[in-house]
Amino acid sequence: MTDQLTAALAYAQENQGRFLEELIDFVSIPSISTDPLARPDILRAAGWLVDKLQDLGAKNVQIMPTPKHPVVYGEILEAGPGKPTVLVYGHYDVQPAEPLELWESPPFEPQCRGDYLYGRGASDMKGQMMTCFNAIQALEHTGGLGVNIKFLLEGEEEIGSPNLGQFVQDNRALLACDLAINPDTGMLGVEMPTITYGLRGLAYFEIRMSGPSQDLHSGLFGGTVHNPAQVLCELIAGMHDAQGRVTLPGFYDRVRAMDSDERKELARLPMGEAFYLEQTGVPALYGESGYTVTERVCGRPTLEVNGLLSGFTDEGQKTVLPAKSMAKISMRLVPDQDPEEVRQQMAKYLEAHTPPTVRWELIKHAGSFPSITDRQTPAVVAMSQAMEQVWGKRPVFKREGGSIPVVVHMQQHLGVESVVTGFGLPDDNLHAPNEKIHLPTFYRGIETMVRYFCILGEK
Ligand code: BES
Ligand code: MN
Repeated sequence: MTDQLTAALAYAQENQGRFLEELIDFVSIPSISTDPLARPDILRAAGWLVDKLQDLGAKNVQIMPTPKHPVVYGEILEAGPGKPTVLVYGHYDVQPAEPLELWESPPFEPQCRGDYLYGRGASDMKGQMMTCFNAIQALEHTGGLGVNIKFLLEGEEEIGSPNLGQFVQDNRALLACDLAINPDTGMLGVEMPTITYGLRGLAYFEIRMSGPSQDLHSGLFGGTVHNPAQVLCELIAGMHDAQGRVTLPGFYDRVRAMDSDERKELARLPMGEAFYLEQTGVPALYGESGYTVTERVCGRPTLEVNGLLSGFTDEGQKTVLPAKSMAKISMRLVPDQDPEEVRQQMAKYLEAHTPPTVRWELIKHAGSFPSITDRQTPAVVAMSQAMEQVWGKRPVFKREGGSIPVVVHMQQHLGVESVVTGFGLPDDNLHAPNEKIHLPTFYRGIETMVRYFCILGEK
């Protein structure tokens, strides 16, 4: 171990309390990107990051506007042109915290209980981002960095990064780099460092059905008017067949098959049926027949109903024939599916199957492309080494069922691969009540990033 590495690791160890306090401060900002009322908090989180980057010694720190939420940029280029430039990606926005009554402590008043810090964004991904910042700080305080760093911190990931592709394209020169580090995924278990080499894409829609011009008495009109709730439910029911396959026309046409080597590798991951039964508490699992659960999450597309609304749902009863119904539906995509093509498939399905008794509308929300990243790049090999130094074992490689749109933007516009990894755990309750981060793993994450930047800097 070099003297600097020893000193930086000691610094990281000694400052754990301070790092935790900073994380608590960051997580207290309710930067919910989908909520228009949270705009001031989005800007507050961006401002918080500006202070943080300046504190790290970054130069050219700026809040760069986009049509919606701004990007925070900064750079530490003191290692010089002979050294690699790493683009550190992060997102400072979070998902909504509802249902609030299920939180044991308020989502934006982070609380430590046992080994965990609870709060919305603690794991996804304010804590994850902080592992990079804290590692950079440790290195800066013990002799400086051997790599150049650029920061690209966005506020729209949780709504599908609608403006980031354009932003990256427009700022190609500013963002030019050798590799990107994207710590927005996680590990399969506390003792299982993990590198993600694939992510699913997303095509998110809202379907609105309308029938009569207003709610009707179900006795006076039942039998004469087609109920939009019924119509929508029948359409949704028809979106899967009995084998759990999605029925939209052409949906599987572009799906790349997993080869037998990959299927063998996926079979070795400790995420079989027992894992999912335990993580979810369901009485039995469901999914496309012909594939294992791991394959279904990693390498097959799916369709989910994210929300349904119609008629009377308060306490008590009301005999009503609702005027409208609405569903939020999203599809997770795998290479080489295209979110725009999937929109057309959904529109075709609705055109073909919606009866003439109602009107329908298809509204498009997030669309993002699926990705596969190269597992052999020097940047991935370096991460694998850093993880082996911390955990005493090699990381596992997995494909993730979730989505991170920027990975494809960076491939397309910057020509760089991302090292996608992270220190979250499967039971962190992402997007759910009581989101938490496991602090011992967070500290190991900081150590990993210290070692990672050192390995990259040696080259
Ligand atoms: N960090 C997650 C993605 C993720 C979750 C990776 C779990 C690995 C494990 C990310 O912030 C996320 O939730 N993305 C959204 C993106 C979507 C709105 C385009 C997602 O996957 O739902
Ligand atoms: Mn998320």
